[in-house]
Amino acid sequence: MRDLLTIEGLNNADIDRILERAEGFAEVVSRDVKKVPALQGRTVVNLFYESSTRTSSSFELAAKRLSADVVNIKASGSSVDKGESLKDTIATLNAYDPAVIVIRSPNVGAAQFIAGCTDAAVVNAGDGKHEHPSQALLDLFTVKKRVGGLEGVKVWIVGDVLHSRVARSNIHAFSKMGASVTVCGPPTLMPRNVENLGCNVEYSLDGLAEADIVYALRLQHERMSGTFLPSLREYISHFQIDRHRLTPRQFLMHPGPVNRGVELSVEVIDGPQSLITEQVANGLVVRMGILFELLSGSGLPRDSKSGVPEDSMEAGVPQELTA
Ligand code: CP
Repeated sequence: MRDLLTIEGLNNADIDRILERAEGFAEVVSRDVKKVPALQGRTVVNLFYESSTRTSSSFELAAKRLSADVVNIKASGSSVDKGESLKDTIATLNAYDPAVIVIRSPNVGAAQFIAGCTDAAVVNAGDGKHEHPSQALLDLFTVKKRVGGLEGVKVWIVGDVLHSRVARSNIHAFSKMGASVTVCGPPTLMPRNVENLGCNVEYSLDGLAEADIVYALRLQHERMSGTFLPSLREYISHFQIDRHRLTPRQFLMHPGPVNRGVELSVEVIDGPQSLITEQVANGLVVRMGILFELLSGSGLPRDSKSGVPEDSMEAGVPQELTA
């Protein structure tokens, strides 16, 4: 594999290989000395144009556990503040001959854009509302470990589907691996034609009892430019996952960060069915698997196919990225 830009662009063999590599690294991180020399002498650059706690810290730690040299750049406080373009930033970082560049950006297609500007492998750590492939891979890993497999598992993704790159990547990821995916939320927070991605669509939690996995999403106020809900109170009354809505056999997941008391009631976040902390722990070994997989594929020619959606969830690469 040359880059990790989307889940949509991966095949099942790619996914299986990363999950198997992650399983191997789970043994490594259970040792007293949690480090292997796999990426010794290689450089990993983490370039974050949006806030992050889990993704940025786990990619940093994953690279360090593989003995890479790591450079962490947050747009705020960097020369981006002085007006430096993404293209010029990548040209600058290329001077260090990085093996991998991990990028998070508010712009759809940013990771794919920089894949055209560098010989380094590129990881999309979230591009606007488009995709968050490493999150989906750690979610697959988490469910596989807990449930034993993915085939036939029923996953309900509940909440602000419209603004969620996690939802989009997870619809692709779970569907590819044989799970059935239902997205659920108010019509105003549901992307047009989302069923074309291969999922079922529900506008109430009435059928939630069928789910094996209840995957809640945060209301992404930072991506909302207008009014999407009559009131927060009404949203909570219809879509909050609380202990009355969860049945004992169901597992609860959330990509984080959680708005406590909004999409999830406080008692279920810390309850026995919650896999939220496991997701974070698994994120480390899955990201070690991703970095190792990309290193194995470095030097391969790049496929020119984009992986950027042509449908309605969001238009393609923004003008400023292609200029
Ligand atoms: N799930 C996720 O991407 O979390 P962060 O924004 O903290 O990285």
